[in-house]
Amino acid sequence: MFQSPLPQEYLGLSPEVLHDRITQARKVLGRRLVILGHHYQRDEIIQYADYRGDSYKLAKEGAALADAEFIIFCGVHFMAESADILAQPGQKVILPNLSAGCSMADMANIFQVRACWKALEKAGIADVTVPVTYINSAANLKAFVGENGGSVCTSSNCPAVLKWAVAQGEKILFFPDQHLGRNTALAMGYTLEEMVVWDPNADDNFGGNTVEALKAAKFILWKGHCSVHGRFTVKQIELARQKYPTVRVVVHPECRQEVVAAADDYGSTEKIQKLIRESPNGSIWAVGTEINQVNRLAEEQKEFDKIVFCLDPIVCPCSTMYRIAPPFLLWVLDNLVEGNVVNEIVVPDEIAFDAIKALNRMIEIAG
Ligand code: 13P
Ligand code: SF4
Repeated sequence: MFQSPLPQEYLGLSPEVLHDRITQARKVLGRRLVILGHHYQRDEIIQYADYRGDSYKLAKEGAALADAEFIIFCGVHFMAESADILAQPGQKVILPNLSAGCSMADMANIFQVRACWKALEKAGIADVTVPVTYINSAANLKAFVGENGGSVCTSSNCPAVLKWAVAQGEKILFFPDQHLGRNTALAMGYTLEEMVVWDPNADDNFGGNTVEALKAAKFILWKGHCSVHGRFTVKQIELARQKYPTVRVVVHPECRQEVVAAADDYGSTEKIQKLIRESPNGSIWAVGTEINQVNRLAEEQKEFDKIVFCLDPIVCPCSTMYRIAPPFLLWVLDNLVEGNVVNEIVVPDEIAFDAIKALNRMIEIAG
């Protein structure tokens, strides 16, 4: 989405001035305001978060904040949309920088998903297919899933959602992250032979597959990926093990299959944090996820003599998460103090109507 440039007065403010003014504005707004922060947010932002978490925790926490009039979501666009769909009537969700999107979420759009579904109908398999969308997707894809009897999932509850989905139908159409779908299905005991990849940019009408292959598949995995997690490799894991023979390797399930297989464990950003925090003093951790979270854990766990480092030596920030910068936060706060709501994320009612079914289904399944 397009973000208009910040007013001149917000450019060039020192970190101290930004901090003082953000703190003051939060005080003025008091309990009318709540700030949610995803684990990938930079330190200069996450310090203001009333609640921090992975995408599932934040979606649930946001929904439970009945008192707050304003929810400032320090994360990316799809997270703010989900918060708006789950919000109480009258609550306003604000994304400080509208250009904070997710490149993976952009790899599937509603026209492509509808075209895929049409092709599955043509192949005679749509009525036995359950669509599941990763929460990293636009609200209209969640609505599509809600309309067609499917569910949303996040990285923390994907196993539970897929277990539910395979009990509902013969096949699963999973979008937009092929890796989360594949890693979870493999962990459930399915084999690669039971999966096909749907390429929305294929020249044919069947995502690069034959109709027979689609009919035979249990999982149809959308050809999408995260460019941040795509950087992690098995070689990096081998090097980490050579350097620290007792290292434990944990990665996010958006990593490629061979990387997840070579790691000791994998899970959502919340799980990664929990594993590291709960490990014995002196533990060594190599982590395959975004650098802001890894650096924060490294700093925090130093006092317990733990070494925590990122598998990728050439830093890997999520550039879109990084777009939530202190001047943007101050700008939306100043406007709220003055009675103006800027950068509100509003999912149209006709989309929210079906999207909420798919989000609530996930919450029912995952608890
Ligand atoms: P989590 O649900 O683990 O927070 O993941 C969100 C995400 O976008 C990871 O890249
Ligand atoms: Fe999207 Fe990847 Fe950034 Fe997560 S890390 S928000 S999947 S681009």
